[in-house]
Amino acid sequence: MPLLEVRNLTIRFEGLIAVSDFSITMGEHDLVGLIGPNGAGKTTIFNMLTGVRTPTEGIIQFAGEDITKIKPYQITKKRMARTFQNIRLFKDVSVLDNVKISFNFRVKYNLFDSIFRLPKFFREEEEIEEKAINILKIFRLDNKKHEMAANLSYGEQRRLEIARALAASPKLLLLDEPAAGMNPQETQELTELIKWVKNEYKISILLIEHDMKLVMNLCEKIVVLDYGKKIAEGTPEEIKTNKQVIKAYLGDDADA
Ligand SMILES: Nc1ncnc2c1ncn2[C@@H]1O[C@H](COP(=O)(O)OP(=O)(O)OP(=O)(O)O)[C@@H](O)[C@H]1O
Ligand SMILES: [Mg+2]
Repeated sequence: MPLLEVRNLTIRFEGLIAVSDFSITMGEHDLVGLIGPNGAGKTTIFNMLTGVRTPTEGIIQFAGEDITKIKPYQITKKRMARTFQNIRLFKDVSVLDNVKISFNFRVKYNLFDSIFRLPKFFREEEEIEEKAINILKIFRLDNKKHEMAANLSYGEQRRLEIARALAASPKLLLLDEPAAGMNPQETQELTELIKWVKNEYKISILLIEHDMKLVMNLCEKIVVLDYGKKIAEGTPEEIKTNKQVIKAYLGDDADA
């Protein structure tokens, strides 16, 4: 059974068909790139997968369940997590608390335990803190755990977003332009980190990215969107030489 099965997704926004007849299948341990020119519909696909937008047509199945009409708050519980193209952290909250908040939905203590501060509450609080720090170490942010998220550099904020998404223990992680705004060295480090995360946590990752070097180095399979339609799907080698893809990126210059 595939982890994610998306069939014939279409979404219209007042007259504009942002995504049209889009299908994709992902297994439990895949790393797939979703690429395409600006406005191609990539983020809109993430928004449909995570319940931010409801597709006009089509079906989304995740871990064997139909999640087409799911609400965003339910999606984390189903173990799908995402990062945002425009970073969305709790800016006035510490780096550590940003990650701890993500663990909360999995916590087993109930309101009774927490109001009366029973031992179970403290034990779980300690456990969460330890796990959060471990994740921060992986992302080289543990030395900044008491900083406000707003005080981190752009690259660090992007890493913190991924750390926070991982704290929700996803089976599928959706990354929307994780390298945007990073310098070449940060991007190189991020490439290694994503590879490591996928293998260590044994998860699947669907990655939107404009940095072609990162996409080509990292992804086993690449799906290309143009004007809301899938125009190609294949290995990095196949995509690099695909005429339609070259044309989508270079426009009419590709004919020259
Ligand atoms: N809420 C909305 N209402 C109307 N149109 C929208 C809305 N959201 C997105 N669109 C349009 O849908 C199309 C796809 O947008 P989307 O943000 O998914 O593209 P993208 O591939 O993520 O682009 P980029 O690489 O620039 O992030 C665009 O034409 C965009 O203007
Ligand atoms: Mg986008």
